[in-house]
Amino acid sequence: MVTGREQHPTKTLEAERSNQALWDELAPVHYRSYREVEILRAGGEVLDEVETQELGPVTDRTLLHLQCHIGTDSLAWARRGARVTGVDFSARSIAMAETLARELQIPARFLHCNVYDLPQQLDERYDIVYTSRGVLCWLYDLQRWGGIIAHHLKPGGRFYLMESHPFCNLFDDSRPGRLQLIHSYFHDPRPVRWDSGDGDYDDASYVPCHPSYEWVWSIADVLGALLGAGLRLESVRELDRIFYRHFPGMVPCRDRWYQHPEHPGQLPLTFTLCARKPDPSAESVGGES
Ligand SMILES: C[S@@+](CC[C@H](N)C(=O)[O-])C[C@H]1O[C@@H](n2cnc3c(N)ncnc32)[C@H](O)[C@@H]1O
Repeated sequence: MVTGREQHPTKTLEAERSNQALWDELAPVHYRSYREVEILRAGGEVLDEVETQELGPVTDRTLLHLQCHIGTDSLAWARRGARVTGVDFSARSIAMAETLARELQIPARFLHCNVYDLPQQLDERYDIVYTSRGVLCWLYDLQRWGGIIAHHLKPGGRFYLMESHPFCNLFDDSRPGRLQLIHSYFHDPRPVRWDSGDGDYDDASYVPCHPSYEWVWSIADVLGALLGAGLRLESVRELDRIFYRHFPGMVPCRDRWYQHPEHPGQLPLTFTLCARKPDPSAESVGGES
């Protein structure tokens, strides 16, 4: 349930603090409800083949996972051989991720840190920076985010994102049936406040106490933030399915993916992208200078 826009841009940090409290509240709920936890325990794969194919082999690569939540995807990449650092600003999410890593005996490092504070907290540069599924709406400054990604990539390193498509944000998601356009596609610095009276996105039986404050970003905002930080875009892809029931009445189309029942195959619901930090030393070999 949307309850209006936060009117004062100066309240951005208050909104962020409320989101942090929300994610601390949700961490134990998701630790119990996420199917990914059980899949990992059973030795199964929680990553989607779109991302594993697009990112390719990660063995012995260093991988920085931004907004890792309870670490399920981080641990899946670690099982594939990556040397993973997962970062999240929810202390309880990080505690759950560490518990799961210990239980499954998967080596991974987890860091309790706001993405925006990362350059002050973390010295390393990585082969891969990865972030996925429900991450952009929590960020209030995408230009700064792009700069932080570029900062933590080694020259030649790759950034990978899988995210819900901003197209989804345009429509009323409170009732099933025909799509009704009620929101703007374009970014507004004032976040929208949501009170999830209908229950959590993963565990509908749980109604969070804290509201969420969310920002929308267009495709151009995302690409602009990465290009502005000096990364080179290698691929962008749009998919006709999404990884959670964004609209009520969405129907499963394959394992852990959903489509709109009235428009199967017609709507852009997820996008992925891969961008690379230029490596000047590699480019000068055989080049003109
Ligand atoms: C939907 S979850 C991440 C998605 C993850 N793929 C999952 O489903 O487990 C969003 C995560 O972003 C984290 N987050 C939001 N804003 C953040 C920030 N500024 N810095 C670090 N983590 C942040 C939240 O704590 C939460 O764990």
